[in-house]
Amino acid sequence: MLQTPVVTGWRCSACDTKVSISDIFSWRCPNATSSDRHHVLELENAITPLRTNGDTNPFVAFQRYLAWDAFAATLGLDFDDRTKIIRDLDEAVAKTAGTGFRITPFERNDSLSDALGFNKLGGVWIKDETHNVAGSQKARHLFSELLHLIAVEQVGRAPWKSPSQRPALAIASCGNAAIAASTLAQAVDWPITVFVPENADTATLKILDSLHANVVRCPRLATDKPGDPCVYRFREAIEQGCVPFGVQGPENAWCLDGGRTIGWEMAVVAEDLSGSLISRMFVQAGGGAFVACAASGFFAGATKPRIHAVQTQGCAPLARAFEIARTNGGARNAGARWSQCMWPWETTPVSIADGILDDETYDWIGACNAMADSDGYPVVATEEQIHESFALAQRVTNIDVSPTGSAGLAGLLAIRHEVADDERVIVIFSGVRRQ
Ligand SMILES: Cc1ncc(COP(=O)(O)O)c(C=O)c1O
Ligand SMILES: [Zn+2]
Repeated sequence: MLQTPVVTGWRCSACDTKVSISDIFSWRCPNATSSDRHHVLELENAITPLRTNGDTNPFVAFQRYLAWDAFAATLGLDFDDRTKIIRDLDEAVAKTAGTGFRITPFERNDSLSDALGFNKLGGVWIKDETHNVAGSQKARHLFSELLHLIAVEQVGRAPWKSPSQRPALAIASCGNAAIAASTLAQAVDWPITVFVPENADTATLKILDSLHANVVRCPRLATDKPGDPCVYRFREAIEQGCVPFGVQGPENAWCLDGGRTIGWEMAVVAEDLSGSLISRMFVQAGGGAFVACAASGFFAGATKPRIHAVQTQGCAPLARAFEIARTNGGARNAGARWSQCMWPWETTPVSIADGILDDETYDWIGACNAMADSDGYPVVATEEQIHESFALAQRVTNIDVSPTGSAGLAGLLAIRHEVADDERVIVIFSGVRRQ
């Protein structure tokens, strides 16, 4: 019998306010306002021991550890009802996406390990996320938000009376997150508005169109403060009643729940490896939810590899925040020092890894905690290393990963001289290449 996890609820990493796990639509800290988003709810729970029940769907395999599961229990749904909600929703997603949520491959890549000079004891383990729903890890984060909405609707607690009165979902993104959000929305026939930059690429726009998303272009307005205009238009839509359906913890903390499945998947495999432990994990960071979740999921297992969040030289607000936080009180629990540590990157960055160019690392507190807790640190890769990692991934692996999706590997290239040949390290190929 698996031990029930202790989910005590949410706590704001910035102002310490507690929010009960039973609250519906608990997207943000109650003290966050439309002009002050320097708050983010963090899950308080204890998972021991981490075990899969063997299901091929990670949301079922690790159901007991999901905050959503504890939340849905407070709605009066029993365990089997909750499993059924996951399975039904997964089936609907599979109809739209061509696949439901399945545990993604995770193994040592011998060619890449050889190419980088690791010996037989060490090597590079690749988590291949390119075949996940909508081609990236983003759908994992969004699925726990959707589970929340559907469960509330199912028990009759939603303020709208029928699905036809649902308020639209909203997201600010023009990449994998927008595609994942529009895919999930389409699966349940829920309207969605996607706020995209003025120069959004046509391939992505075409996909969003095919998913019937309402796309809104967002030029910078003269009245906008520094920061992303798509995020500002998104927040205005939320003020008007749209549901935040994105992958930034300060906008919807429920994305930080499902995002952990990728870490749990890796941790249970890592526990079964014979020989030495996994010593490092490199994770490309844009908004930061990915690295925060992959790490906290992995840490629920028996080992704690050093976490390296990887950014590009052209846009590295997380590395800047980590350094500042270290000097003004410590990189751990820096939430109360938000304004001193994190602000929008001043110059407009360009990189072929365009999915990690968020000018603010919204989930910087979780990312910094993960690095501080594991004796890790951020790595800033040069644009040349980003190119090199993409070319290397294409040349020596058979995974059709994008430059953003292989950017974690650029972090490994950047500090390869610090990594011993017998170390075991993880890179996550997080997103498929789109032509
Ligand atoms: C393929 C891929 N990997 C990684 C990331 C970074 O994730 P996060 O923004 O949560 O840091 C993104 C974000 O767009 C992405 O598309
Ligand atoms: Zn708060």
